[in-house]
Amino acid sequence: MKYTKDKKFIGAMFDEISPTYDRLNHLLSGYQDNRWRKSAVKHLASMGSYENVLDLACGSGDLGLEFTKLSPKKLYSADLSFEMLKIDREKLPQSINIPVKAEAERLPFASGMFDLCGIGFGVRNFEWLSICAAEINRVLKPGGRFLTIEMFKPEKPNIVNRGFRLYFEKVLPKIGNRLSRSKYAYNYLFESVDNFLPVSEYSRLLEQNGFKVTKIRNNFIGIVHTVFAEKI
Ligand SMILES: C[S@@+](CC[C@H](N)C(=O)[O-])C[C@H]1O[C@@H](n2cnc3c(N)ncnc32)[C@H](O)[C@@H]1O
Repeated sequence: MKYTKDKKFIGAMFDEISPTYDRLNHLLSGYQDNRWRKSAVKHLASMGSYENVLDLACGSGDLGLEFTKLSPKKLYSADLSFEMLKIDREKLPQSINIPVKAEAERLPFASGMFDLCGIGFGVRNFEWLSICAAEINRVLKPGGRFLTIEMFKPEKPNIVNRGFRLYFEKVLPKIGNRLSRSKYAYNYLFESVDNFLPVSEYSRLLEQNGFKVTKIRNNFIGIVHTVFAEKI
């Protein structure tokens, strides 16, 4: 299959793998994914309070679940995939959570509505990244925070990330596709990272779209990073 970021394709692919998404995420990250989300949200908690929060590309809602610890009044969970949103809806407290089917390129929210927007393992799937960054900037209040946790392309190949790339390209898709009963989703995972930006270029793109990057945390061998930014 040819690599594409077409939104119809992406939405259908995440619909397909939604039943096994959480389990495989934990397994294939060596049970580290929730640790990365938790430590990011802990850092955000130390920096302020947040009334209106957006979990964009929320998937099955694991980042949103961490955001509930910030005691927001309203938490909006937005995603392309209806099946992922159904899981998010079951996982999060209905009293504050508002699931919305939406594209990151065209957010159905008023300007300056959010104190915080977070994206866990979502940005590398976005078809039009600069447009998404500008949209996120638009819906944040001035000074609003923007959190990204993502798998980035390594800045420079070295022996460690080359070894990981081999595993990621050749071994992980076989396990992931088999356990998720998908033909391609875990090949797509490899290709989406391989075709994405290094974290330095991503930070530059944020700064070109009205953000100041305040902290970058390297979680795993220069591939998984957490990027903290704020709207200028
Ligand atoms: C790898 S999952 C991440 C889910 C979750 N945030 C997490 O931390 O595990 C990526 C999600 O991004 C969504 N997505 C991809 N492109 C999108 C877009 N352009 N707009 C909104 N959601 C998108 C997919 O449907 C999928 O649910």
